[in-house]
Amino acid sequence: MSGPLAGREVLLVVGGGIAAYKSVTLARELLRAGAKVETILTDAAQKFVGGVTFAGLTGRAARNELWDASYSGELHVELASRASIIVVAPATADLMARAANGIANDLATATLLCAKSSIVYAPAMHPRMWEHPATRENVARLVARGARLVGPVIGPLASGEVGVGRMEEPEVIARRVVELASSARDLEGVRVLVTAGPTHEAIDPVRFIGNRSSGKMGLAIADAAVERGATVTVVHGPITARASHHESITRVAVRSALEMQAEVAARSEDSDVIVMAAAVADYRPDVVATHKIKKGQDRLVLELVKNPDILAGLGAWRGANKRPVLVGFAVETGDLVGYARSKLSRKGCDMVVANLAEHGFEGDDNTVTIVTRETAEEISRRPKREIADRILDAARTFLDSSQSRG
Ligand SMILES: Cc1cc2nc3c(=O)[nH]c(=O)nc-3n(C[C@H](O)[C@H](O)[C@H](O)COP(=O)(O)O)c2cc1C
Repeated sequence: MSGPLAGREVLLVVGGGIAAYKSVTLARELLRAGAKVETILTDAAQKFVGGVTFAGLTGRAARNELWDASYSGELHVELASRASIIVVAPATADLMARAANGIANDLATATLLCAKSSIVYAPAMHPRMWEHPATRENVARLVARGARLVGPVIGPLASGEVGVGRMEEPEVIARRVVELASSARDLEGVRVLVTAGPTHEAIDPVRFIGNRSSGKMGLAIADAAVERGATVTVVHGPITARASHHESITRVAVRSALEMQAEVAARSEDSDVIVMAAAVADYRPDVVATHKIKKGQDRLVLELVKNPDILAGLGAWRGANKRPVLVGFAVETGDLVGYARSKLSRKGCDMVVANLAEHGFEGDDNTVTIVTRETAEEISRRPKREIADRILDAARTFLDSSQSRG
């Protein structure tokens, strides 16, 4: 699905107010913008609208139950981790009071308390509820903690009165979500170098040794970084994935590991963050035949020599100064965290994004573990574009600490 929210996971929390019927339209608007929408209905919301309507629209069951027996994990933690933006609409006085006070006694509020992403509240209530000092205080506390408000607006209310308390129109709320999704420009002025795709190691003029890397993960990181304000260069091997839609990304096409090494080396000095997402061949044919090798003998022996380890080279080059921030990738078939930690120290990088071979290649989704010296954050299956944001979030923390040191 294309659109400004393509690939984004949006969690819609519906509270128990008359305006809940408008949240059906809001769900549709978010879907139209390309988002994948998950819905939580509070108990009170279910008195106004049915979960079946949201399930039919979004293709995902509407959630209500904190104690969901059909779910083996902690649903509130999973929903909060998956969401890249949360919209509470209608945000009732009660929901905001509970959220402001850290109460987590149902699925909606437990999820809000676990949230790492931006939260947009679209309040709807009677003007006297809205103007009550308790609501004013609760709203102020939510906003002070970084929540965004859309509305309420003046207009005719369900009670027939006119006043401030009407939920903002779904189209306007959806537009605000889109704005928010594209406004996180926290990498402004940061120079990011990304490698992507496979390398092709020539055997003769028409044959090569390659691998199944599609380049999608690296391109997703480049897209995410540029959307967050970074200046981005991608050094990529022969990729089949679509070209990035951001014209401002500098693209440098290479074929072999040696070419990739040269292009990365030429740019490493001018980079603040280097993400080595390319699947660089470990070996290359020692001799490249100048003419096409003819079919002849039954056995053909190719002698391979080791390619330079670009990541380890960068790790050694930057040494103790820890600049640029260095992110490596590891594809393994087991013990992800163990191998990633050893790669981290052998190659002198800040973090390693590890994934299982069966998950990472070719598809649009991935399941990864982001491993640093101290932490290992597992990110369950989701679009590469979202994983890209999580990788950049983690890289940014190293950037912040190296900036404060230097
Ligand atoms: C007919 C009716 C309409 C209501 N409309 C609203 C409303 O628009 N805004 C609001 O904050 N509460 C409204 N309430 C009260 C909430 O439903 C009530 O506070 C409930 O506990 C909210 O639960 P929730 O925040 O978990 O969704 C309404 C109640 C009823 C019976």
